[in-house]
Amino acid sequence: MATRKVRHIGDPVLKKVCKPVKKMTPNLLTLIDDMFETMYEAQGVGLAAPQVGIVRRICVVDVQDEDPVVLINPELLESSGEQTDDEGCLSVPGKCASVTRADHIVVRALDRDMNEVTYEVEGLKARAFLHEMDHLDGILYGERANEPYHDIEEDEEEDLQ
Ligand code: NI
Repeated sequence: MATRKVRHIGDPVLKKVCKPVKKMTPNLLTLIDDMFETMYEAQGVGLAAPQVGIVRRICVVDVQDEDPVVLINPELLESSGEQTDDEGCLSVPGKCASVTRADHIVVRALDRDMNEVTYEVEGLKARAFLHEMDHLDGILYGERANEPYHDIEEDEEEDLQ
C-alpha cells in the first residue's frame, strides 16, 4: 500500500463525472487500499477516487473508526430528513463551510468483491456518503454550502476533514 497525492480545488480532475467500474482488477484493488491509507494518513473520514486523480466511481468512508466502507458505483435509493453542519474536504485544505444534507439515506453499491450491498445510514455517516458520492459527479461541497468557504479554526480542525 502507498499513499497517493491528494488533488486540490482548481485541479480539473475534481470536476469530472467519473466512470463506473465494470470489473474489479488488481490495479483497482491497489487503488482502494491506497485510498484508505491516504485517507487515514490525512485523518479524513472519506475519500473519492478523483481526489487521487482516478476518474472512477469509487469512494471510501470511515467515520469515527467504525467499519471502513468502500462504495463502488454507489446509487442513492432513498433520502429523508435534514441536517446542517460544517463540512471539510481534503481537496479544500484548511477550509470549511456549513452544508445542509439529508439526514437518513439508503445507498446501494458494490463492495471490493463486486457484491451488491445496501447501506442504511444516518447522521455523520450519511453526510460522509453524500459528500463522497458528490465527488464522483465532479461536485465539491462548496457548491452545496450555505455560505462561502472559510478558514477552519485550529481547535476544530481534527473533526472536520
Ligand atoms: Ni471531499
